[in-house]
Amino acid sequence: MRITINQIKEMKPKGEKITMLTAYDYVTAKIVDEAGIPLILVGDSLGMVILGYESTIPVTMEEMLHHTRAVVRGTKQSLIVGDMPFMTYHISTTDALKNAARFIQEAGAQAVKLEGGVTVAEKVQRIVECGIPVMGHIGLTPQSIHQFGGHKIQGKTPQAAARLLEDALALDKAGAFAIVLETVPAPLAALITKKVSVPTIGIGAGIDCDGQVQVINDILGSYTDFVPKHAKQYARLVDIMSSAVTDYHNEVKSGKFPTEAQSFPMDESALAGLDK
Ligand code: KIV
Repeated sequence: MRITINQIKEMKPKGEKITMLTAYDYVTAKIVDEAGIPLILVGDSLGMVILGYESTIPVTMEEMLHHTRAVVRGTKQSLIVGDMPFMTYHISTTDALKNAARFIQEAGAQAVKLEGGVTVAEKVQRIVECGIPVMGHIGLTPQSIHQFGGHKIQGKTPQAAARLLEDALALDKAGAFAIVLETVPAPLAALITKKVSVPTIGIGAGIDCDGQVQVINDILGSYTDFVPKHAKQYARLVDIMSSAVTDYHNEVKSGKFPTEAQSFPMDESALAGLDK
């Protein structure tokens, strides 16, 4: 049985911290699911960490659906949230509804996430009314990176803080079941968490959020040179993978691999007469 949005919402008043991680493929999703992580986000961060784009902006619906299907196939318990890509919910409510429905109907996700507060609240309400759970996302919303002029902390001035609180309240009212707060000062995230009825899930938003989300590649240490400030490396997979690949390369070149253990014998009499 998969975790439901009601179970996620019930964790807030109980003070139970909520864990969420991204996943983009079958194998990784299976590990995350079996670890008991209740929420898996198939984030449009896949644009950077899987597909090698410079930002989330080029990510398409087809790419998101392809990876969401793989994650759904790898999981049994986690609630899968599909991230709606840039411009798939901005132009009209009809577009937003159609694209949200594709995540549920064609990819098997249980919820969608979209970026924005007051400006998308009406669309959130319509999607929820159609029976599709929505996770909100405010603060440093990567699809608006050009508008922000870079990866800047959001909500630092009194006006910006008031706007973010207004955004969170609008999403809560529209029926979002949880709200991601990205790169927001910890005291503001704590205030928003107190003011909204649904769980807040922080990324670079401090300890007082109801839950935390991280990009899995960041916490596993998949890169050689880059650790975002909001992330902690729980492993250095890049070192393990790089050393395994180098060992393989060297052993093939030197004739050490494969050995008999990786080979399949046969009765050589079957070859008699073939090598003339
Ligand atoms: O795409 C993503 O991974 C996200 C998280 C960083 C919240 O939106």
